[in-house]
Amino acid sequence: ATKELLAGAAGSAGSSGPTGSAGSIGIVPTMGALHEGHLSLVRAARADNAVVVVSIFVNPTQFNEPADLDAYPRNEERDTRLAADAGADIVFAPSAAEMYPEGFATTVSVTGSITETLEGASRGASHFDGVATIVAKLLLAALADNAYFGAKDAQQVVVVKRMVADLGIPARVVVCPTSRDADGLARSSRNVRLSAADRSRALAIPRALTEVAAAVGAGEFDPQRLRALATEILAAEQIEAEYLAFVDPESLVPVTSTHQPTLFALAARVGEVRLIDNIELRDG
Ligand code: PAJ
Repeated sequence: ATKELLAGAAGSAGSSGPTGSAGSIGIVPTMGALHEGHLSLVRAARADNAVVVVSIFVNPTQFNEPADLDAYPRNEERDTRLAADAGADIVFAPSAAEMYPEGFATTVSVTGSITETLEGASRGASHFDGVATIVAKLLLAALADNAYFGAKDAQQVVVVKRMVADLGIPARVVVCPTSRDADGLARSSRNVRLSAADRSRALAIPRALTEVAAAVGAGEFDPQRLRALATEILAAEQIEAEYLAFVDPESLVPVTSTHQPTLFALAARVGEVRLIDNIELRDG
């Protein structure tokens, strides 16, 4: 179902976006279960574009566990209202059959180290095939000038930028900062599944990020010692990370020193819930 939320939006003069083109189209791809993090992207798109499209599609091809796909929260009515309130003109919520009709046979596969590491290693490389394929289709379906993604999924941003550049899709990828609850926990559709006790344990994750950043600021540049610091902070809450990675923000190759710009990314299970988070470390 495609819902036109505002009549005449496409024809309005609109604001001049970051591309400098009046009448530009911005898209915010989502899987629904919208929260404040998603809505911050919608507001950013609203500020830049004449027309804002929010897509809601729980993309089956990027899930590695069928149970995870089945459990994914769906509430199109609520999401449509939230998207409209945040400034969306159009909500595009296609069915799986619409996106993957019978005979569908094309996969966009970003290969190499950027998809093999971190989430690719944990969830399997096909996860990013699923993401790259659906994002390519959504950007083309919307004829988007600007496409908005959250820094929380840092590797997804790297993969999408690579795919857009390699295929020559004429859209600009705009990265928006990670939106956090007041206590620092990164907003995620999965947070509602945390028990109260686990939610408070999970705060060790943003604490590990900020303490590592502070240590770098204080002159600690050795990824191994920084990893040990983070491990200790998480262990205090009985959290064992799936990975604690210090990598180049563009190539995602491990760094040997945080003197160079470094993405510190981690994944950890807290109770039943798998959480990811990251921070960019800057020397000085
Ligand atoms: P989803 O998890 O619904 O996230 C949609 C967008 O919201 C992504 O760009 C994600 O990085 C961003 N986002 C999520 N939580 C955020 C937060 N706390 N702060 C800022 N941005 C946040 O990511 C996907 O869907 C899918 O992989 C998708 C790109 C839609 C392709 O299916």
